[in-house]
Amino acid sequence: MAASSPTRSRTPAHSGRARQRSTGAPIGFGALIGAVLSAATVGALVLSGMAPVGPPVAEVVPEVVVPQQTPDPAPTEVPGSWARESLALEPPMGWNSWNQVNCDGLNESVVKAAADSIVARGLDKAGYEYVVVDDCFQAGRDAAGTLLVDPGRFPSGMKAVADYVHSLGLKFGIYAVPGSVTCGNYWSKYPVRGIGSLGHEAQDIALFVEWGVDFLKYDWCRAHINDRLDPASSFVLIDTVIKQSGRPIVLSISEYGDYAPWTWAPGVANMWRTTHDIHPYWVSILKHINLQAPLAGTSKPGAWNDPDMLQIGNGGISMNETRTHFAMWCMLAAPLFLGTDIAALPEETIGILTNPELLAIDKDRLGIQAARVSDVGGLQTWMRPLADGGYAVAFFNTNAAATTMSATLANLGIPAGSYTLRDATAQTDLGAATDTLSAPVNPHGTVVLTLHPTA
Ligand code: GLA
Repeated sequence: MAASSPTRSRTPAHSGRARQRSTGAPIGFGALIGAVLSAATVGALVLSGMAPVGPPVAEVVPEVVVPQQTPDPAPTEVPGSWARESLALEPPMGWNSWNQVNCDGLNESVVKAAADSIVARGLDKAGYEYVVVDDCFQAGRDAAGTLLVDPGRFPSGMKAVADYVHSLGLKFGIYAVPGSVTCGNYWSKYPVRGIGSLGHEAQDIALFVEWGVDFLKYDWCRAHINDRLDPASSFVLIDTVIKQSGRPIVLSISEYGDYAPWTWAPGVANMWRTTHDIHPYWVSILKHINLQAPLAGTSKPGAWNDPDMLQIGNGGISMNETRTHFAMWCMLAAPLFLGTDIAALPEETIGILTNPELLAIDKDRLGIQAARVSDVGGLQTWMRPLADGGYAVAFFNTNAAATTMSATLANLGIPAGSYTLRDATAQTDLGAATDTLSAPVNPHGTVVLTLHPTA
């Protein structure tokens, strides 16, 4: 890495919980790794009194492993054959095991069945392409430090599962953590220790390359507490190791939005979580949407805000709420990862998930996440400009009663003029609009309108 390494400038200007001290000196990889464990960093983290990260469940923290490892010696040069931003030019889409089976239900049959169902239900044609194995596939490490896969859960081995996914024309993803302990070790009491990538970064990426991994979810899991790591440095390290491997693996990071990743992760990762874990009920979905409002304008192609994976198909989410969950994720230019038994989804839900007009908004090449332009009495209006000169407007009714919502072009910040109007949610034409838009909106429902200037 050159002396004027960009890693320093990517270090977050932590406005909140953690603050990393800057020496102002150029930083190379040796220095970077040193900085990861430096007394200054550790002191700053301890002094900052950071709250624990991870899902908001019982605060019973199992035994903490304080590792002897330090991060792998990393290469000093990155070949630079591809830039991080050149991957994931559209928000990544696919399936991830976590929201469906969590830790205990993970095995190769579930993963292969998900891949089969993506194809059988036509989701691959809509763009759902990654099949991601989340936490709890690991079985420790051998004497050489190589990560082992649980032979009970994955009797064919991970390479065979990846090959199977690839044979269907899909892509394969895996899960790892920068520290010593995975979130499953904490929150799901997954008993297998020593499975984090700390001290094994290059070794793990080499293994993932051997398996044919296309997507890596790299999950923070309290590494600032267990291992005294700094998030930005840890994610820069893994991005560099991936680049050194030569394989263009899409990198999805999660530190739950605790360190304002939208300010430093572009160029380091392709997507970053902006929230703690989503749950399969309305209050959680609403909360995740509301948390995105201040982040408008902070995502772009190759660098996406991730309000967490879809819970569609799970728990007690009504059909209106399902429509809102999907429509708002598309307005937000969010990655779309299913985490449910796809084979069991009703046709109506498949229709929602494959709505070509909403997907076109999600994938719009400007990559501009919608801004919330008004929020009055539980009625929210969001808008995003589109690459073809049009606009997408969402009327989102957070209330439990149906209503009619409206907004003028001026309210929305859309130039005065004549527009053709379409309901992208219902995929129907609504004629012309010159001033005021309005639409009936179901309880907890969302209507997305698209406007295009009349020629
Ligand atoms: C964290 C993440 C989840 C999932 C689990 C796995 O909670 O936020 O998405 O990856 O860890 O243990």
